[in-house]
Amino acid sequence: MDSFRYPVEEIREKCDLVEIVSAYVALRKRGKTFIGLCPFHNEKTPSFNVNPDRQWWKCFGCGEGGDVFDFVQKIDNASFPEAVERLAQKCGVKIDRSEKGAREYSERERILRANNVASAFFRSAMMRSQAAKDYLVKRGLTDSSIEKYRLGYAPDSWDQLMEHLAKERVSQADAVRAGLIVPRENSQGFYDRFRSRLIFPILDTSERVIAFGGRAMGDVEPKYLNSPESPLFAKNKTLYGLNFARHAVSKEDRLIVVEGYMDAIAAQEAGFEHTVATMGTALTTEHVSVISRFTKNVVLAFDADSAGMNAALRSAPIFEQAGFSVRIMSMPKGEDPDSMLRGGDVSRFAALIEQAQPIPDYRIGLALAKHDLSTDTGKVEALNEAVVVLAEVDGAMDRERLIRELARYHPNFGTGMTLAEDQIRGDMSRIRSRSTRRHSRGAALEDKAPAAREDKPLSLVQKSERLLLGIIIFRGAEASKVFERLPPKEFTDESAQILAELLGRQSAQTGKIDQETLRAEAAGTPAESLLNDLLFGLDESELNHPVEQIMAVIENHKKNEKRQRMRELSRKINEGSIKRGDEEYEEYYRLARETSSPWRR
Ligand code: CTP
Ligand code: MN
Repeated sequence: MDSFRYPVEEIREKCDLVEIVSAYVALRKRGKTFIGLCPFHNEKTPSFNVNPDRQWWKCFGCGEGGDVFDFVQKIDNASFPEAVERLAQKCGVKIDRSEKGAREYSERERILRANNVASAFFRSAMMRSQAAKDYLVKRGLTDSSIEKYRLGYAPDSWDQLMEHLAKERVSQADAVRAGLIVPRENSQGFYDRFRSRLIFPILDTSERVIAFGGRAMGDVEPKYLNSPESPLFAKNKTLYGLNFARHAVSKEDRLIVVEGYMDAIAAQEAGFEHTVATMGTALTTEHVSVISRFTKNVVLAFDADSAGMNAALRSAPIFEQAGFSVRIMSMPKGEDPDSMLRGGDVSRFAALIEQAQPIPDYRIGLALAKHDLSTDTGKVEALNEAVVVLAEVDGAMDRERLIRELARYHPNFGTGMTLAEDQIRGDMSRIRSRSTRRHSRGAALEDKAPAAREDKPLSLVQKSERLLLGIIIFRGAEASKVFERLPPKEFTDESAQILAELLGRQSAQTGKIDQETLRAEAAGTPAESLLNDLLFGLDESELNHPVEQIMAVIENHKKNEKRQRMRELSRKINEGSIKRGDEEYEEYYRLARETSSPWRR
């Protein structure tokens, strides 16, 4: 290695470690040293120290440490000579190459130069192209955005860039490596990759052009074309706009992630400087670890299409697993950040960012949105779906919070009955206990709190059935309607079955309910004490409860039970412990016919 030639000591003297590190890590002064979150491992509390006096850094979490050259090598994945060159340039130290003559630049540096030449070419092509300028105006981009984001234009030509690169003595091999030119398939030679496209140079945090994104000027496919991966450019680590965002991200201690180049630019220009874009790829753990150098708070502001929503739902857990607080913004239908902000909806965007929700809230919102919440049936269906999400939420506190929020979509909400929350909690507990049983240990340990309450006293369904019977006793007219949907023999316990039977018969025969007759008929049967409870134990407000809603609760519960039973049976069938011809086998298929299961997941 020829490192002895480099003016290492001079560079060390001129470069300030704190300044160099600050480009990557948000540092806070603590006494004589600076501390921050280590960029080399995931952590929540800072153990990364920079000592300005000694020009030395050290992470007490992962043990990494060294001088300014070590830092640059490690953070940029650079060789020692590369680190030296980079720092020399940054600190204005001249390296005399005369004796080295044509020193072999590393491949990364050669690609970098090819990109720089290309970037300048695209920029001057932009200045010369009226079509490109018109397009930018149409997209709401100003001269200062063109300047700041170094936007360019790839002319409508197969070889203009190629010739320019040759003139600038960029070798063909380097131009290919950089992805600027592409070998022809059926003949000799090469052609320009980017043609007739608006060019977004992609900069790394040291503001080097590591790749390009090219947007078609019209409705041409593909809409966006990116540089291929190269030694300089790894898509899964790169975030567009991070070079501009990083100071704001450190300052605000949060980051907005959007999907597209235009979205990132629009957001940054609208004052949301702390915004970056993924580049048409899914977010990866690498992205997340890059981001964790700057903040642990992220809002995902993805497009309001299904691709965007799915991407958000896939990405959010990656952040969560890395200890981030992650929230998902609900974008208005058909919009993306660019269209919203260019449309002038800046304050609305700001409000929606503030209202961004944690993963479970967002998922529940999606589930609710699929159903018609103006009908009881719709509400019940929505809750069925939401409760499945609810059951997957880890923290008991979070679940309780969500139960309270969900309760207002319950048909029983606001009727003076506590049934709504209890019902939801009960449904959720059943799903949870089923899945903890399935995964045995593990998940079961973390939460024993709010489950067991519905069994011993009266289940929610039992309560609902009783209330229903009580209402029939006092408002007899609805009996036939109720028993058509809920046949007396399907009531949960014997007393209720008998009472329902008596009510049904009396109503069918006389068209009304006579309480005296009823007491006489119930006397001496298991229904006697239940009837007494209902005659004297119900209060007025409960009796005004809409019958339709109580029935929805009961039916919903029954449906759940059927599904549960089906799962059990289907497990047995799969295990082979029940076979065709067995009673349980028949039961399974009867249930399958009755139930359409939206819970298949
Ligand atoms: N993308 C890509 N390749 C494509 C399509 C998209 O790399 N063929 C990436 C780009 O980074 C793009 C982002 O995915 O910015 C989002 O794509 P899309 O939502 O389709 O585009 P917009 O950002 O809305 O672009 P525009 O507003 O210019 O239509
Ligand atoms: Mn767009």
